[in-house]
Amino acid sequence: MAILIPLSRPASNKVSDVNTRLTILTGTTRGLGAAMAAQLASQGGHLVTVARSASAPLAQLAQDSGTALTHVFIDLLDAGAVERAAIELAALTRAHLAAGHTRVRVIHNAGVVGPIAMAHQLTDLHAINQAFQVNIAAPIFLTAHLLTAASLAADLRIMLISSGAGRSPTAGWGVYCATKAALDRYAQVIALEQGASSDTRVRVASIAPGVVDTDMQATIRGSDPDNFPARDRFMDMHTLHQLISPELTAQRLLQVLDSDQFGAQIIDDIRQHSF
Ligand SMILES: NC(=O)c1ccc[n+]([C@@H]2O[C@H](COP(=O)([O-])OP(=O)(O)OC[C@H]3O[C@@H](n4cnc5c(N)ncnc54)[C@H](OP(=O)(O)O)[C@@H]3O)[C@@H](O)[C@H]2O)c1
Repeated sequence: MAILIPLSRPASNKVSDVNTRLTILTGTTRGLGAAMAAQLASQGGHLVTVARSASAPLAQLAQDSGTALTHVFIDLLDAGAVERAAIELAALTRAHLAAGHTRVRVIHNAGVVGPIAMAHQLTDLHAINQAFQVNIAAPIFLTAHLLTAASLAADLRIMLISSGAGRSPTAGWGVYCATKAALDRYAQVIALEQGASSDTRVRVASIAPGVVDTDMQATIRGSDPDNFPARDRFMDMHTLHQLISPELTAQRLLQVLDSDQFGAQIIDDIRQHSF
């Protein structure tokens, strides 16, 4: 069920074109998604958070900033909830376009890194299916509904939060690598279907965010080295303060999303951009 916090008018200092923008963002409870949500909530326009719980501080920030905020409850593991959310998100998108706005952004950020295990130990079919459901099946399903609902949008941008894991094999990450590689290839298919190279109405990019200091990294550091031989490398990066903050990463991702270059590199990496 969606909770809408409607605002009769935007704050006077938020009258730029972002007020015509609808941004749909998944996985806003923690980490990178929470950081992107906070920045988007302070920018005006209409933010739709799609997550297992809503955030009262985020609602307050949005209200203070003149940003319309809608929360759509979803558990990406629950097929019925995903189907209901798709209908709600499509309706919100259609309403946004019917009101004369033209810009829609979709950011598929929610993700899981587990199950972490060597290939011969990936014997929990349920856990494997759950990872695929969250990381790739649900984004494909939600995007299908949004592509249809946003068929009249002049500017539709879809950002898939991928990972270097989708591009480089990592022992113990058979499932995670496979889901992120799938995300990359799926982005290429959307671009191919949409003719994104010649028609910029629909743009898509699958972007690796770098190594970000979130709960996911804590999970990685806490994994069993027998299941994940590269664990010490991630522990060293943490010890050496080489992780990037979610806030800085969010700022860079949103900058790329808004740039004219967005989608030029379908399989993208935030570390390849200069800021
Ligand atoms: N951190 C990194 O170094 C790194 C590197 C490369 C790529 N990434 C990618 O960046 C994205 C964000 O990662 P993060 O580091 O911010 O991870 P995180 O701190 O673990 O947060 C994951 C987010 O996904 C949500 N999520 C997970 N399962 C869900 C479900 N079943 N239904 C709804 N929401 C669900 C979580 O919500 P709940 O709180 O409800 O669980 C949370 O909001 C992921 O796609 C990840 O693969 C991260």
